[in-house]
Amino acid sequence: MELPEQGAGRPASLAAAARTIVATADLDAKIALSRRTADLWFARQLSLRRPTLDPPAPKRPGRPDRPQLLAPRDMPRRSADSRTGHIALLHAIAHIELNAVDLAWDIVGRFAGERVPRSFFDDWVTVGLEESIHFGLLRDRLADFGAAYGDLPAHDGLWQAAEETRCDLSARLAIVPLVLEARGLDVTPSMIERAETRGDEADAAVFRRIYEDEKKHVYFGAKWFKFLCDREGRPFEPTFHALVRKHFRGALKPPFNDRARSEAGLTPGFYRPLETIRT
Ligand SMILES: [Fe+2]
Ligand SMILES: [Fe+2]
Repeated sequence: MELPEQGAGRPASLAAAARTIVATADLDAKIALSRRTADLWFARQLSLRRPTLDPPAPKRPGRPDRPQLLAPRDMPRRSADSRTGHIALLHAIAHIELNAVDLAWDIVGRFAGERVPRSFFDDWVTVGLEESIHFGLLRDRLADFGAAYGDLPAHDGLWQAAEETRCDLSARLAIVPLVLEARGLDVTPSMIERAETRGDEADAAVFRRIYEDEKKHVYFGAKWFKFLCDREGRPFEPTFHALVRKHFRGALKPPFNDRARSEAGLTPGFYRPLETIRT
């Protein structure tokens, strides 16, 4: 069955659609395109790529004029308890999720020419769709407080990981799902707990949804990282350590959620050797 056309015509390919999503600055359009691309891909109505028709992968994602993007050191400190602090927390997470939308679609669009099974793209299309849902949930939650994404400044360091790993799929998987998204597994349970403690079921439900999906994203990352290592005859953990040391500034911060990480295929031998030494 053909899916109905909505607005713009059908993209030339999955790679073209993914690159367009990354380049799109209008956030409603970015979310709608994520949904439509996932629907077309899973209905098997898109080819993977058509090199003569596909636009190049954008260097940076399209962004609206607001929020203002600041260097991490210039970000205002936020308080945890007041309404303002709560809005700032939701805004910061919304910003992370928006970057996650672009990071997932950039994996699809930039690496569409890799020799990987089709199920690789099934997984990252799923991630792109779910990140766009997470962003939408947080935008709705901000609206409950009369706020909107863009009202506050946001951190301008999150695309660095994509730039740093644009030429190497193993490095991209090491840094994006296995360092950055795995960090989400460490911090989200306490966010759920704090929301429950203050009786905020709406926040708790959003954070629980994100947590469940992010376990899957890390699992996809570990699965495909190991697939690439196996194919190249490289050992998993030393390869991961070398890539993280080369492409990621800073150490990995404990405490780690060992259980969720292990369930996702990221056992301690991957991350323990890279942790901060506390004095
Ligand atoms: Fe997410
Ligand atoms: Fe994710």
